[in-house]
Amino acid sequence: MPADDEKVVSLHGAQAAVVRDRLQRPLQDLRISVMDRCNFRCPYCMPEDKYHKDFEFLKSNERLSFEEIQRLVQVFAGLGVRKLRITGGEPLLRPNLPDLIGDLSRVAGIEDIALTTNGVLLAQQAAALKAAGLARVTVSLDSLDEAVFLAMSGGRGHPARILEGIDEAISAGLTPVKVNTVVIRGRNDHTVLDLLEHFRGTGVVVRFIEYMDVGTINHWRLDDTVPSRELVERIGERWPLVPVERHYRSEVARRYAYADGGGEVGFISSVTEPFCGACTRARLSSDGQLFTCLFGSSGFDLKGPLRAGASNEELDGLIRAIWGQREDRYSELRAARQGEAEKVEMYYIGG
Ligand code: GTP
Ligand code: 5AD
Ligand code: SF4
Ligand code: SF4
Repeated sequence: MPADDEKVVSLHGAQAAVVRDRLQRPLQDLRISVMDRCNFRCPYCMPEDKYHKDFEFLKSNERLSFEEIQRLVQVFAGLGVRKLRITGGEPLLRPNLPDLIGDLSRVAGIEDIALTTNGVLLAQQAAALKAAGLARVTVSLDSLDEAVFLAMSGGRGHPARILEGIDEAISAGLTPVKVNTVVIRGRNDHTVLDLLEHFRGTGVVVRFIEYMDVGTINHWRLDDTVPSRELVERIGERWPLVPVERHYRSEVARRYAYADGGGEVGFISSVTEPFCGACTRARLSSDGQLFTCLFGSSGFDLKGPLRAGASNEELDGLIRAIWGQREDRYSELRAARQGEAEKVEMYYIGG
């Protein structure tokens, strides 16, 4: 028999065993993409020449409805999922998103709902999202320098607008607000200190993400990635940093605190220090494909069975079987797997 913390309350209140993959990793977090479209065209994610005005995104009936997402979340909660992260594309483009947040916050077992956004539409939606049950937001912001920002967003948005969104999120209590900054050598790495200067002492936690070889359209090269240890050194020369313990085992960011009490900085180092060993994350695309790794080449269809009338028990069995055979650890195998299969694009499963 599994130990008590290895059991979860299943759909009917009975005790069900936590599902583990082939590397003994439990399924604890679900990242749900609710929208494949985005109002940015970051060249490293949705380059304008490919995602132009005639590009065919999903039709709205191809995306999971709120009821369908809630059904799946009930099943995932029965399997041990406790944390949800709503992503896109840009999730705030999904009409009536607060209604979905409300539905999900009522699912038994769900303890934390967060959202990752580019921040353009955040100021106007922050209060409604909080009222519906969203706990916190993470805002992508690659630079405060206007020219650098625009070069990295495909000419969309403006840093001032994103800062307004962050302020509204703080006022609404969607805290701690985190900022995610993808660092690409020669493009925005010269602006990271200014970004930190701005947020030091505000309670906003900036996290630098090593630029990764997600998808196949960004023509990633290892030289484009700035290793976190290089950034830690550069930042530490200006403001001494001290390492801080992880909040939880599967946390992707390594945490550092400013020695002078100015707050925290995080580093997400999937390229130079992979964290697959503790990866408890599954990803659901907006059209109901389940991915067991950010670098997967194909997903497992959940929408088909759902729309064909599968019961919660059947969906539970299906997901258990998918997770049970999982052995993904792409970041640990990166060097050996370069150029192998096509990989899913980031905007489609939300990072
Ligand atoms: P917290 O609950 O706040 O700790 O959220 P989080 O850091 O798990 O979520 P967030 O969306 O902010 O993740 C930040 C970034 O880390 C993502 O956009 C990805 O770039 C990267 N990331 C998150 N999970 C994984 C993962 O499983 N594998 C890899 N390689 N990168 C990941
Ligand atoms: N490498 C690292 N991070 C990326 N993101 C998008 N593409 C990449 C990539 N190739 C980031 C976004 C956003 C988060 C969801 O993932 O900028 O902050
Ligand atoms: Fe940029 Fe995020 Fe939109 Fe991709 S999904 S284009 S990274 S804002
Ligand atoms: Fe998890 Fe895949 Fe990322 Fe490794 S590369 S941490 S297995 S999502």
